[in-house]
Amino acid sequence: MIYFVQSPQSEASILMAKVYARALEKALKGGRPTFAGTATGKTFELAYPALVNFLKEMPDLEPLYQNLTIAQMDTYWCLEGDMGLQYHREISEALASHLPGSHFSIPNGRAKDPEKEADLYANYLQQMHARPNEFYIQFAGTGENGHIAFNEPGTSWESKTSFVSLTNDTIRVNATLFKDGDTSGIPKHAITTGMLELRKSHLVILGAFGSRKAEALYNGFRASPSEDVPISILQEMPCVLVCADDAASSKLPPEWFITPEQLDIDELVKSALSLRGS
Ligand code: GLP
Repeated sequence: MIYFVQSPQSEASILMAKVYARALEKALKGGRPTFAGTATGKTFELAYPALVNFLKEMPDLEPLYQNLTIAQMDTYWCLEGDMGLQYHREISEALASHLPGSHFSIPNGRAKDPEKEADLYANYLQQMHARPNEFYIQFAGTGENGHIAFNEPGTSWESKTSFVSLTNDTIRVNATLFKDGDTSGIPKHAITTGMLELRKSHLVILGAFGSRKAEALYNGFRASPSEDVPISILQEMPCVLVCADDAASSKLPPEWFITPEQLDIDELVKSALSLRGS
């Protein structure tokens, strides 16, 4: 089931945080090992502070954080400079450091042997997701080309976590975000959670804001699922919440969308928690 909510980013961020916090609460209190997948970028910059606030309102959760793993889904890989550490720093500051006793995992974006690092991370994810009764929730954004994590268009849906080359499109977009269009210092590689592992999620919360994301949402949800549009894999997954603003949702049928008030959060979380394996 995919729930589409339309709302400005400020309001959508609170909703995404509320759903995420509620799911963590129910999973942890239910004694489940909980795998909390994170995404970086502007899409979630308002959601993380809201999430931290919601969690702080539940001090009885703190002793249960030992059962919680915060896992960043991808990282740039770059031996020089500090871009290889950027996602680590971002998620550590925005979330992991606020949850004492929780575990934080992310592939090493400065590993000397990135292919080996990716294999190790793939094995780690496989072990985590083989835990009986695990609950896996995932925040996800998308690139303008419909990528998810750093799985670029054309990536097989059977692909494992791996060391990948970024497309020229992605490098160009990142250059405009970080370096005024200069691609020279922009990483050309990344280590990304694979489609195979992402498909284990019980609940994916996808955020998309701004007109730059409209085409990706259209191709991802209006057309049939295809490996050419990585986010279209969400059409095949059991429980997905898509939050988009007016601009990002402009190419999708308006009747698909509900408002944040119309979303039954308890019902959504309950159905995600009731899924076993995948
Ligand atoms: C990068 C990340 C993605 C993220 C995307 C969107 O490509 N690898 O995981 O979803 O950026 O970023 P933003 O939220 O800044 O638009």
